[in-house]
Amino acid sequence: MKEKSEHIPVMPKEVINFLKPKKNGIYLDATLGGGGHTVLILKSLGKKGKIIAIDQDIEAIERARKKLAEYKNKIYYIRSNFRELDIILKRLKIKKIDGILFDLGFSTYQLEDKKRGFSFSEKEENLKSFLDMRMNTSLETTAYYIVNRYEEERLKNIFLNLGEEPYIFAKKIAKQIVLERKTKAIETVGDLLQIIKKSTPPKYRFKKAKGRYADNVFRALRMEVNQELENLTEALPKAVSSLNKEGRLVVISFHSLEDRIVKQTFREMSNKNIVKILTRKPIVATQKEIESNPKSKSAKLRAIEKL
Ligand SMILES: C[S@@+](CC[C@H](N)C(=O)[O-])C[C@H]1O[C@@H](n2cnc3c(N)ncnc32)[C@H](O)[C@@H]1O
Repeated sequence: MKEKSEHIPVMPKEVINFLKPKKNGIYLDATLGGGGHTVLILKSLGKKGKIIAIDQDIEAIERARKKLAEYKNKIYYIRSNFRELDIILKRLKIKKIDGILFDLGFSTYQLEDKKRGFSFSEKEENLKSFLDMRMNTSLETTAYYIVNRYEEERLKNIFLNLGEEPYIFAKKIAKQIVLERKTKAIETVGDLLQIIKKSTPPKYRFKKAKGRYADNVFRALRMEVNQELENLTEALPKAVSSLNKEGRLVVISFHSLEDRIVKQTFREMSNKNIVKILTRKPIVATQKEIESNPKSKSAKLRAIEKL
């Protein structure tokens, strides 16, 4: 595996401040990724402290096993979807844990891996990437399947709702997809970019920051392929149930729909006196962090403590 950029963990200090790891606690990183946050948590744990590290992407698990070899006795690696975290804990015979982190979305490794089709970069070597976008490569549905099989109306709704693409362009892009796939399957990143270009005026494309005109459509497809909102909705109540008293849950999201799910779930649990909300408003990255790690710009962190 050829590595290009490291994945830089978002809001590292804030994560540790809110998670407040106890020396001998058991923690769960629901989104291991490049292991950046896992290492930070590990560093604040004592001899008996442990961490359960989940990722649905086998490559993330394998990379972390090598990178974090020195901590191997303190980490349980689990390749799974975090929405199964209740089953995972049961299998490990762990009843309650002291803290959980979700750092949602995808990692820099996934984005930059040309065989995975996550990136809408117009660099020559990326244009031929197959439209895959699965974080878990054993899932059946790829972005290729969605663009070549879903009905026009469904495609439009995905671009509109998950991508937050303006209605007019969501509609035009969906229509163009359906038209073009009648003669030839839409297979690559380049194929899809051409369709988006044909369906949007130059004025709209150039208004978007540097080549980001395809951002909405790509994000929408990625969220649909990986069922990201559904996973989060299912996982959050399970996460809260698995916490010890005073255990903490920290969630970093990058999309307004995700943040809404987190906010509503936390509010409902707080109304039932199950948790205390630690962040009345979401915590965002400092200007300094945004400059050194642009990905942090859209990050929102929310945290709760179990009562
Ligand atoms: C933003 S990255 C995490 C980066 C990590 N915090 C770090 O500092 O390196 C998100 C990771 O979560 C994984 N992921 C996303 N949704 C998941 C899910 N439902 N279940 C398990 N892993 C998931 C992705 O495969 C990706 O590796």
